[in-house]
Amino acid sequence: MAVYSFSVIFLCLLTFTQLLLLHSLSATSSSASPYLYPTTLFDNYEKMLSTFRIYIYTPQKPFTFSAPPLSLFHNSLVNSPFITQNPNEAHLFYIPFPPDFSTRSRARLVKDLRISHPYWNRTLGADHFFVAPAGIDSSSDRNAVELKKNSVQISLFPTISGDFIPHKDITLPPFNPSPLALLRQGPANTTASFLGFMIWDGKIESNLVNEMKGDPEFRIEAEPSNRVDLVKSSKFCLFLYGVEMTWMVEAVAFGCVPVVLVDRPTQDFPLTDVLRWSDLALLVGTRGGVKRLKEVLHGVSDDQYQQMKELGVAASRHLVWNSEPQPYDAFHMVIYQLWLRRHTIRYSRREWV
Ligand SMILES: *[C@@H]1O[C@H](CO)[C@@H](O)[C@H](O)[C@H]1NC(C)=O
Ligand SMILES: *[C@@H]1O[C@H](CO)[C@@H](O)[C@H](O)[C@H]1NC(C)=O
Repeated sequence: MAVYSFSVIFLCLLTFTQLLLLHSLSATSSSASPYLYPTTLFDNYEKMLSTFRIYIYTPQKPFTFSAPPLSLFHNSLVNSPFITQNPNEAHLFYIPFPPDFSTRSRARLVKDLRISHPYWNRTLGADHFFVAPAGIDSSSDRNAVELKKNSVQISLFPTISGDFIPHKDITLPPFNPSPLALLRQGPANTTASFLGFMIWDGKIESNLVNEMKGDPEFRIEAEPSNRVDLVKSSKFCLFLYGVEMTWMVEAVAFGCVPVVLVDRPTQDFPLTDVLRWSDLALLVGTRGGVKRLKEVLHGVSDDQYQQMKELGVAASRHLVWNSEPQPYDAFHMVIYQLWLRRHTIRYSRREWV
């Protein structure tokens, strides 16, 4: 009897150790790269380069986007080899319209496209995409509804809750405020002096930020002139979701692990079909206050932290914008996300002759 229970316990121990071993093996293999699908990404990307074709409808009036990631995306696309003049070979259709277009104007535009071209009706807009800075809202007009529900929306990050449809819509990586040459220097070779650094102009009240201001482990600045130095000398860079996130890519590139403070699930991170954000950034709720925040940050082991930092630096090349698009940069990775969305069912009326 004693022998029997001993062997049962031994078996259990063995299984538990094996499980641990399996778990650590899978943990290292899945987190050794910052990608969601490291085995298919590069082949798919090459295939995209050689085959992806996009048709652009002629805008009603010439217009420009002024905000950098939007203008960079639009201008890079218009001048890219992905553009085709032949709609019959296009995988996707781009509907350009000005950033301040009203819901009514959008509805009218879709109605015009529906009548004057055969492409909208085939998928009710599912192989179409558009660029709108803050995303578009709902409407009761049929044309506006199809645009909102079926077409791929490309907007700035972060979006307003409700104006982003997960798995369909795309956000653009924020435009990095630092020159690229500086970003490429990567992390500083020093130990961090602060646990967390945050840019906070105080325009919105936040209990958590007020608490953090009184804590010497955090550095909170309104408009720091030495932002890059502070990023490089902090272990974590903190962002209140939706407020000031433009320097998030800079944080990642300089090895300051991003911590996004948010109380609801978020699915609108840039390159969310490419990068495994859960290995690059932390999401922490604000309701537990500074005590909970510090528990989470101090709870990250040195190995785990080092890996997040390294994966972030590796991922940052995909998040930066270039005035002349470069392989695997933000422009190309947004195009890649469009490429992943090219499979739609077309309800075409075939004419058999
Ligand atoms: C698309 O369908 C609508 C009806 O939903 C029709 O009025 C329109 O003429 C069709 N467009 C084309 C180009 O056939
Ligand atoms: C950081 O600096 C130390 C001492 O100067 C040096 O030994 C080490 O190789 C450096 N590490 C990197 C990654 O540059």
